Amino acid sequence: MLSSLSRIKNITVRKSLLNEIPDISIDRGQIEETICNMLTNSIQAIKKTGEIFIKSGTSDNNIIIEISDSGEGISKANLEKIFTPFFSSKEYGKGTGLGLSIARRIITEHGGNISASSKPGKGAKFLHNTSAELG
Ligand SMILES: Nc1ncnc2c1ncn2[C@@H]1O[C@H](COP(=O)(O)OP(=O)(O)OP(=O)(O)O)[C@@H](O)[C@H]1O
Ligand SMILES: [Mg+2]
Repeated sequence: MLSSLSRIKNITVRKSLLNEIPDISIDRGQIEETICNMLTNSIQAIKKTGEIFIKSGTSDNNIIIEISDSGEGISKANLEKIFTPFFSSKEYGKGTGLGLSIARRIITEHGGNISASSKPGKGAKFLHNTSAELG
């Protein structure tokens, strides 16, 4: 999905992923849905050309997934609202505004947290910290 969508828009995807993923107990479908939602947001935030950077790592007992992009970014005022259900800046009919609120629920249910930072015009960065039991 990512490669076909990003080809249309000329998006370069860079990855820095864990070589060895520890055995963890997660709801695979839900985590996949979350990552898919975030990547869709990044693709939508890039108008014509840009980059998406996907990073994974561990820290203490946490799995960290970082997704950042060089898209339009998020204004300071909107940054406070983006995880609120039905908040969307997309044109009518384009976004339900549920993607990030569902993502937050899923990550919270996995014992983690999710946060976003952005400089408008300089892209957005989302950090998922899934503190699943390792090993
Ligand atoms: N990577 C991003 N860059 C810029 N803005 C973003 C990014 N991700 C989310 N946003 C902002 O957060 C809002 C909420 O995102 P969310 O995924 O919850 O809903 P949506 O994308 O608008 O609709 P849906 O996901 O239901 O199709 C978006 O409308 C957009 O304003
Ligand atoms: Mg979305």
